[in-house]
Amino acid sequence: MFGFESAAECYHRVTCKFPSMKHGADPTATKKKRREYFTKSLPHVSNIYELKRDSGGNAEAHGKGTYGTVVLGRHRVDKTNRVAVKVFKKDASDDWEYLAKREIDAVTKLKDHQNIIQIIGVYQFAACDVCMVMEFADYNLYELLSPEYNSKMWSDRQIKCIIKQLCTGVQYCHQNGIMHRDLKPENVLVTAPSGHVKLADFGMSHEHLPTAKYMRYTNHVTTQYYRAPELFLGAEFYDEAVDVWSLGCIIAEIVLGGVLFKGDVDNNPHQMELIWALCGTPITDEWPVELHKNVAQSYARSKVRRTFSKETLGATRSCASVELVDLLDRMLQIVPGKRISARGGASGPPAGVLDHPYFLTEKPLPMDPGMMIFRRVIPPAAQQPAVSQSKK
Ligand SMILES: Nc1ncnc2c1ncn2[C@@H]1O[C@H](COP(=O)(O)OP(=O)(O)O)[C@@H](O)[C@H]1O
Ligand SMILES: [Mg+2]
Repeated sequence: MFGFESAAECYHRVTCKFPSMKHGADPTATKKKRREYFTKSLPHVSNIYELKRDSGGNAEAHGKGTYGTVVLGRHRVDKTNRVAVKVFKKDASDDWEYLAKREIDAVTKLKDHQNIIQIIGVYQFAACDVCMVMEFADYNLYELLSPEYNSKMWSDRQIKCIIKQLCTGVQYCHQNGIMHRDLKPENVLVTAPSGHVKLADFGMSHEHLPTAKYMRYTNHVTTQYYRAPELFLGAEFYDEAVDVWSLGCIIAEIVLGGVLFKGDVDNNPHQMELIWALCGTPITDEWPVELHKNVAQSYARSKVRRTFSKETLGATRSCASVELVDLLDRMLQIVPGKRISARGGASGPPAGVLDHPYFLTEKPLPMDPGMMIFRRVIPPAAQQPAVSQSKK
């Protein structure tokens, strides 16, 4: 598309010359080189895109997180071409280049999938901040599930369509060796009126290949409500099953119209109690040694796992069908190895999420995303709160 060649070319230069940051590498060794590259080589975003400004003339924040700000814009020549620009602020963290690179690398690796937000280019913002230009999406799922929107009016086919796209995006990440590690409604974007779902915010993502069974990762990932039990128990050798847990929580939230495990903010014990109450406590015999078995043991007390039903979930909506509840039951297993895989195919058993009868045979079948026709009911509320973890 017009004007994109230069952006793509610019991005190509960045990815080719940017010093690599393999897991375990010393961040300071390449820091200076990276900073020099970012500050000297990138064209300014305002040369190509007109950014939305507030009354004071400053770029207006559309979404704001701990390490970056998202600003909306449009191409200076092709004005119908709307974009979102994520600005990684130099003063947000000592590791801002590392975080920027991690996100840029992940979305580049996952490029060209309809359920992953598409990167358009990498530019400079203001004097030295770096920014990533992405395709624009109208909503995030948090907004759509809030009372201002009529998500309660969605048909079962529409809900199934959203859930299927969500699972397809996660499947693509896992098939390409990327754990997202921060799946939550705010990071799931939806286009209007078509209703295409796009996973976004790969700032916490990490490479995870099936061969890398004993890679050590930080467990300070994923926003509290969506964090898998093994992370609360301090596991460091986890895998992409942490995303499947988050996915289960998001799907349950769509069905219930509220957060499934709404623990008190920053209160891990309370969050864990809610999980044990619904899903049972860890069973010592089944808990893998590498996932802090000794810690898990201390929770292995009375509560035995029950199979989910509509009643145990507290679901009243018609979309909480028998098959959907069964799918949730398989996603929200306490023992990560027992959780259904999002990859599907070769990595089973059990067969992957998208092989479940909920998508394949249960009527009604999911609507085609192009047919969704979402409309904004009233303007979105101000920015939503996010109980976010550190992105180290
Ligand atoms: N491509 C996009 N189009 C429209 N809005 C976006 C886009 N990317 C992000 N946003 C909005 O900005 C918010 C913050 O972006 P995100 O990438 O999640 O950054 P953070 O790391 O700060 O959480 C999102 O929740 C979403 O509402
Ligand atoms: Mg986010």
